[in-house]
Amino acid sequence: MLDDAIFSRRTVRSFLPKPVPQEILEKVIKAGFASPSPLNSQPWYFIVVTGKERDDLVKIIRKFPAYLADILALYPKEISESASLSEEYISSFAKNVGGAPVIIFPTIPKKTNRYAYKVDIIACASAIQNMQLTAWSLGLGTVCLTSALWVETEIMAYLGLKDRELVTVMPIGYRESDPKPTSRNNANVTWIGF
Ligand SMILES: Cc1cc2nc3c(=O)[nH]c(=O)nc-3n(C[C@H](O)[C@H](O)[C@H](O)COP(=O)(O)O)c2cc1C
Repeated sequence: MLDDAIFSRRTVRSFLPKPVPQEILEKVIKAGFASPSPLNSQPWYFIVVTGKERDDLVKIIRKFPAYLADILALYPKEISESASLSEEYISSFAKNVGGAPVIIFPTIPKKTNRYAYKVDIIACASAIQNMQLTAWSLGLGTVCLTSALWVETEIMAYLGLKDRELVTVMPIGYRESDPKPTSRNNANVTWIGF
């Protein structure tokens, strides 16, 4: 069962205009809460938004394609050039975040210590992955939309959270269709002592 979710999950960028019941979203959030964290500190805080506030936030999020060149410049050329998503597709997705009726905003506390920051990011990323897998197994889809971090200041000002920072933006909803499988490089490992 876990294998099914791990190996069949795909990033979803196109959603049905169908509301997601809060009880279903609570299951997703609970899976996030079940993640491990240093000293069980649970540094995450999730803001789950739908309705008018979701629409307001989309008006901010949709500005991220303006930074696409900066975003792609962070990756090695062979990766950014082989990215299968065209600029046109990204802009059309960004307009209404693929129609996702709900958006989850995972946050962690602002910290200046590099170690403390790193462990909080790891814990929150683990919660995000739990949520993505659970969402998938419940028939939903998600996209971990870190590109929206380019408009983080505006998003956090809207949400009114001064002492926290955004880890990603995660649109969630029922999948319009199942996306195509993606490939993996199975050579990214070194075995020692076997
Ligand atoms: C940390 C992280 C950041 C990502 N950022 C974005 C993003 O900004 N925009 C986007 O469309 N997808 C984003 N994705 C989704 C990846 O593009 C996707 O996971 C990858 O292409 C593999 O596809 P799959 O998830 O369907 O297997 C991100 C995924 C992760 C884990």
